[in-house]
Amino acid sequence: MGFDIDKIRADFPILKREVYGKQLIYFDNGATTQKPQQVIDCITNYYLYKNSNVHRGVHKLSVEATTDFEESRNYIAEFINAESEKEIVFTSGTTESINLIANSFSNLLDKGDEVLISSMEHHSNFVPWQQLCENTGAKLKIVPVNDNGSLDMDFLDSLLNEKVKLLAITHISNVMGTINPIKEIIAKAHNYGIPVLVDGAQAIAHIEIDVKELDCEFYCFSSHKVYGPMGFGVLYGKSHWLNNLQPYQYGGEMISTVTIDKTTFNEIPYKFEAGTPDVPGALATVEALKYIKNIGIKNIVEYEDELLVYATQKLLEIDNMRIIGTAHHKTSVISFLVGDIHPYDIGTLLDQMGVAVRTGNHCAQPLIDNYCIPGTVRISLGIYNTKQEIDIFIEALNKTLAMLA
Ligand code: ALA
Repeated sequence: MGFDIDKIRADFPILKREVYGKQLIYFDNGATTQKPQQVIDCITNYYLYKNSNVHRGVHKLSVEATTDFEESRNYIAEFINAESEKEIVFTSGTTESINLIANSFSNLLDKGDEVLISSMEHHSNFVPWQQLCENTGAKLKIVPVNDNGSLDMDFLDSLLNEKVKLLAITHISNVMGTINPIKEIIAKAHNYGIPVLVDGAQAIAHIEIDVKELDCEFYCFSSHKVYGPMGFGVLYGKSHWLNNLQPYQYGGEMISTVTIDKTTFNEIPYKFEAGTPDVPGALATVEALKYIKNIGIKNIVEYEDELLVYATQKLLEIDNMRIIGTAHHKTSVISFLVGDIHPYDIGTLLDQMGVAVRTGNHCAQPLIDNYCIPGTVRISLGIYNTKQEIDIFIEALNKTLAMLA
């Protein structure tokens, strides 16, 4: 398909809408991406023609739904280059994927053990480990970031040792767009036998993911960040890890046999999938992944890099502009502050001019505290954004700043 921006924009019905009488400019893709018609149709068609529970019925609809559901698992496994579809656990999102692993690790940790994370983690890759450590007596150790928002790799080296039982780290910072050198980090951790969980929520839509090449033990992402539906996510786990971890929730589907005396558990991945799953979520996720695959991940990287460079240059022309996160390897996420104006004031006025941005601590309070700032204004760009939109945003920002001066 190549990168045909007009065609891409035409696929996203919401981009036609206006807010406050202005054409919507949606720059909040880090929070959630919009959905193409193909994804919307997939969900509608499921409920119109296919709706049935999976793995449970002998009837035609159930058999068809089960086949489609399991084919989704195969597709997703191939998409991230997993060894087997058994390594793909369906969850409600990145947050649940991480909580699942944190919960399953609770009986693997002892007092004195350590869990490593970084100071650029989203709360969903921070709080579960903090709670796990509080409950087990393990210590939470934090790898800091450098001033430019890159990870302090020397500090990481100094924290790696045999007491560390897990390293949980984001692939890409949701606040700054920093792309962590995740393959190198994983290799360093493996030198000490430390398994690594990667939070891929902000990566899946923007760069190629190959779990075999990365060699991570766990990789998590959400469908809604990659043009798919909300409420559906993926946990990739190496099979020997998934086989050995305790289930996270109990109920139907995750069991093998249940008697009054004892329950035995199903094989992976079903051992981790208690209850009726989000079948249309799985099908629509495949539509979304096919959508970006058709465009080509390399084309997306190239296009979004152009947007990043353009928007950064334009922002830096503004007086008293401070960009938080200027690491060399970045995706199209820019967090900024202007003078001592509160980010919330800028965001509110931009909204009135039709530009949707995120303001605040972006669910990453430790990082924001680290910079001693009240939060940032964040733009996070996706495949349907354009340089023309960036121009309109910059004009709106200049008007906003004049009003707040
Ligand atoms: N993690 C999402 C964001 O960064 C919600 O906005």
